[in-house]
Amino acid sequence: MSSDSLTVRTVPTTPFAGQKPGTSGLRKRVVVFQQEHYTENFIQAIFTAMPAPGPRGATLVVGGDGRFLMRDVVQKIIRIGAGNGIARFIVGQDGILSTPAASALIRKRGADAGGIILTASHNPGGPLNDFGIKYNTRNGGPAPEAVTDAIHAAASAIAEYHEAELGGDLDLGAIGSHRVAPGCDVEIVDSVADYVELTRSIFDFDLIRRFREQTPAFSLLFDGLNGVTGPYARRIFVDELGFAASSLTQCTPLEDFGGSHPDPNLTYAAQLVERVRAGRVSLGAASDGDGDRNMVLSHDWFVTPSDSVAVIAHYATRCIPYFRRHGVSGLARSMPTSCAIDRVAAAHALPVFEVPTGWKFFGNLMDAGRLSICGEESFGTGSDHIREKDGIWAVVAWLNIVAWVSEEKLKAQGASPGEFVSVHDIMRDFFSIYGRNYFTRYDYEEVDAAAAEQMVDALRASGPGLVGQTIGGFTVASVDDFSYTDPVDGSVSRNQGLRVIFADTSRIIFRLSGTGSEGATIRIYIERYDAEQCDQDAQVALKPLVDAALEISRLAQYTGRQEPTVIT
Ligand code: G6P
Ligand code: ZN
Repeated sequence: MSSDSLTVRTVPTTPFAGQKPGTSGLRKRVVVFQQEHYTENFIQAIFTAMPAPGPRGATLVVGGDGRFLMRDVVQKIIRIGAGNGIARFIVGQDGILSTPAASALIRKRGADAGGIILTASHNPGGPLNDFGIKYNTRNGGPAPEAVTDAIHAAASAIAEYHEAELGGDLDLGAIGSHRVAPGCDVEIVDSVADYVELTRSIFDFDLIRRFREQTPAFSLLFDGLNGVTGPYARRIFVDELGFAASSLTQCTPLEDFGGSHPDPNLTYAAQLVERVRAGRVSLGAASDGDGDRNMVLSHDWFVTPSDSVAVIAHYATRCIPYFRRHGVSGLARSMPTSCAIDRVAAAHALPVFEVPTGWKFFGNLMDAGRLSICGEESFGTGSDHIREKDGIWAVVAWLNIVAWVSEEKLKAQGASPGEFVSVHDIMRDFFSIYGRNYFTRYDYEEVDAAAAEQMVDALRASGPGLVGQTIGGFTVASVDDFSYTDPVDGSVSRNQGLRVIFADTSRIIFRLSGTGSEGATIRIYIERYDAEQCDQDAQVALKPLVDAALEISRLAQYTGRQEPTVIT
């Protein structure tokens, strides 16, 4: 498909309302993207708004989670990108790149135009479900608000887009560099290789392999939920670390994720939870559609994401080579995430940052060298090795920790070979050092948007009056609407969630989701610290606070909902 000169066609178009990307990009139903010019307009808006140096002569990474419509859109990006002067595209084979792999590739290859990632993350896929287009900047992280605002402005004022005539579609399966027009190359790369190399450089693969060989009783079950992580999981867990192929389930990426909701939590990954319990699996794990979220559990314990990141931080510099080499400069969590990681930070004399919900808020701190490990209660865990959260990274981190703790115990106490320290034991140890931050989240999905707004407005108004009152045995110490000043660039983000904080440090947080596609989703986050009693069921331990939250918010009156849609 090469020609002698690059012919660029200028196509007249008119704007569509609502092409406003959030941090997770523009997410809409597939049929919305299928409208004539809709997708082209948004892609052109990305090139128009692209930060310096702009698209001309620059390199752009392109890939996505394999969902329905993705391959067509990759072709469109190549045509419109070439029409806007992109000199080199780096594209995952068949268009496939997990979100963390795309972030890694942007950084490794110094892609000065950043990357376009085609995903709607954990939202269902297929012709009747969601598609998404997300722009990441050259640091490998989601575009900051100034850039997403500029994209929205460009999309709202668009009159034409520029499309190179490249002949037919490019064969996205053909690895190698292809000259598609004078001064424009498309390089198709193995979707997995660079990511595997990076992961190998971070963790102690030798230790994990040795542990696996010596510990046949240890079992792993990874559920790819038919999303993009399947091929990554196969290469890392099976080919590199030597686990049996039967350690993987739902690891063939499907355009519609097999009709399921590719979100790793106790509700949507129920099949995995069941198999892990029934099969007495030592480490169960799952990742979402685009590979950035993760869930970790064992047959007898569910590790909350808030605890998971705290445990990883606790062990990082002792057993994970990347942190042994680089050290850990700081820790961070999103505001609703439990304060377990704060306790680790305090014990290690490290700074800890509390940012609003959204991975983008960690980026500046990482770029400034102030943050190494961070996580969110929304099943996101990661570090400064890239600028996205990283599902497989979290699972390998747990393998590395289990292997190391087991080997140390064997050395110290002469435990019999073949024994290992379980996930539950690792959590017990952790709680015995730090105590336990019990945590749960109640989600009320697709509630009437106006009712949700009214509930939050009423809470905002009545909140200050709660201070000093005792509700369900808990005395309210403060109520506020979380506001964040970025310590690096001074930017301020307001109204990031209502916090009711009690005298004993328990917290109830109310927040409206920023990622739903129908109506509104109300999230209630509940947390209580206990230094002594650490082995209770979280739902039992938190029941009085859950009741208090429902009473304070009058959620049932506003929404008509008696039960949450999802409990995590
Ligand atoms: C996405 C972002 C996360 C964020 C989550 C919150 O997954 O990548 O960083 O925590 O959305 O979603 P919510 O629905 O609570 O706004
Ligand atoms: Zn995701």
